[in-house]
Amino acid sequence: MQPIALAVIGGTGVYALTQLDDVSTVQLDTAYGQPSGPIRIGTLAGQRVAFLARHGEGHSIPPHRINYRANIAALKQLGVRRVLALNTVGGITENWGPQVLGCPDQLIDYTWGRIATFCEEEGSEVLHVDFGQPYTPSLRRAVLAAAARAGVKVVDGGCYAATQGPRLETNAEVARLRRDGCDLVGMTGMPEAGLAREAGLDYACLAIVANWAAGCAGDEEITMDEVLANVAAASAGLPALVAQLLKE
Ligand code: HPA
Repeated sequence: MQPIALAVIGGTGVYALTQLDDVSTVQLDTAYGQPSGPIRIGTLAGQRVAFLARHGEGHSIPPHRINYRANIAALKQLGVRRVLALNTVGGITENWGPQVLGCPDQLIDYTWGRIATFCEEEGSEVLHVDFGQPYTPSLRRAVLAAAARAGVKVVDGGCYAATQGPRLETNAEVARLRRDGCDLVGMTGMPEAGLAREAGLDYACLAIVANWAAGCAGDEEITMDEVLANVAAASAGLPALVAQLLKE
């Protein structure tokens, strides 16, 4: 059978890749437990593509309870080599307003208490993987080229702050993230990216800006309705972008 060309991990507001044809569903178990839900494998632009909803298809798993290791291990079991992670985020700096799509090139990990490595078990080989460029440069370039060819605007580069959640940040926390050089903030970027690197997978993030992060647009309350509406609007270009990425 044709290998899987790409796996897409969907975040808040993206629970399926609607343009997949001939979809089959696999429910895997891994040495780290079960992934967030079934993995849907179908064809798109003549290639096999896998899709996994990070929070579960019913959005029932909060960011700190996601079994990131099982998700990455399950994709690896399927022979996946490349992962496009969709992450819903809040925007901090001026290029990152609501409904923007962006492909960050850096991250800072502020999460805590999550199992962040495959080296956790006693006796497992300790890996110190290089993570200077946390997102695979060649896959980032491919995403940006596909976006340009598909006519979908994507911000090139930026620093993703991975926070613990599930609550949103305080204004002071976001002010600190800004001082640290972060452009966008989300709750699921880590440890996923680090685990993908440990597993030897190419990994890039396509961030979908749902709202201005706390304090970045006055004191307007951030509501889930706003988040979902902006993700839906910003996701309009995703099918064309993913199809183009698979063609290249
Ligand atoms: N902060 C953290 N995660 C998020 C946000 C935010 O403002 N919006 C969507 N995910």
